[in-house]
Amino acid sequence: MEWNSALYDNKHDFVAEYGKGLLAFIPDCKEQTILDLGCGTGTLTAQLAPLGSRVMGVDASRNMIDKAKEQFGNIEFRVCDALALPFEAEWDVVFSNAVFHWISDHDALLAGIHKVLKSQGLLVCEFGAKGNIASVEKGFAEACGEYGFDYAPKFNFPTTEHFWELLETNGFIIDKIYDYDRPTVLKDGDQGLVNWMKQFFASELSVMEEDTQAAVLKKAEDLTRDTLWDGKEWVADYRRLRVIAHI
Ligand SMILES: C[S@@+](CC[C@H](N)C(=O)[O-])C[C@H]1O[C@@H](n2cnc3c(N)ncnc32)[C@H](O)[C@@H]1O
Repeated sequence: MEWNSALYDNKHDFVAEYGKGLLAFIPDCKEQTILDLGCGTGTLTAQLAPLGSRVMGVDASRNMIDKAKEQFGNIEFRVCDALALPFEAEWDVVFSNAVFHWISDHDALLAGIHKVLKSQGLLVCEFGAKGNIASVEKGFAEACGEYGFDYAPKFNFPTTEHFWELLETNGFIIDKIYDYDRPTVLKDGDQGLVNWMKQFFASELSVMEEDTQAAVLKKAEDLTRDTLWDGKEWVADYRRLRVIAHI
């Protein structure tokens, strides 16, 4: 899917903001090379830049990479699919925030990351865990159904146990792995959930007429209000899986 980079930076900059916690797991070693996998608009790549001798951001979305280049002209960015990384034993660290749940084949993903890491290289990543945004997805799916559209669940939110197993079968040694609830306040008060759905369900909404889109979004809000609206803000039911592992 193509990404709306302006909406991402204006309304969903909390994604990168939360990702900053992951930076604490990057070793203190100025000579290291770091690949930011699924770098989006480059906010975290810029934070990684002073932590290594060579730091590059890659992302499958041309829009996101164009925005990253525009904002951080001194950093190397490339359009590139995480499942077809054009490197071999080149990186000391692969870093990734909020990306893996967009990729359906985690086995192939981990095999590819293993291939691009140098011996003893490190994977530092966080993404959606089993149960992530369950209420949002359920509300949106039901709303789509009411207007004659089938929502096919598209995210890959694994359990910790399953991802642990995949890491091991792909040759990783696990240093840390855990999932946790991270209730996430959406920006813009009343508009927060609609903004979120417009960004992250963009491809589903794109096949609907404009008035149907509006009706589906309103219905999804109505269906989730009891669970996710706290009277002032929308608080999405995020659950994250954090992994630190090396080869
Ligand atoms: C929620 S954004 C996170 C961006 C950034 N890491 C951050 O923390 O702000 C998810 C990003 O994953 C990228 N992505 C999804 N699937 C991908 C794939 N197969 N290969 C590379 N990037 C991918 C999207 O293009 C998007 O920029």
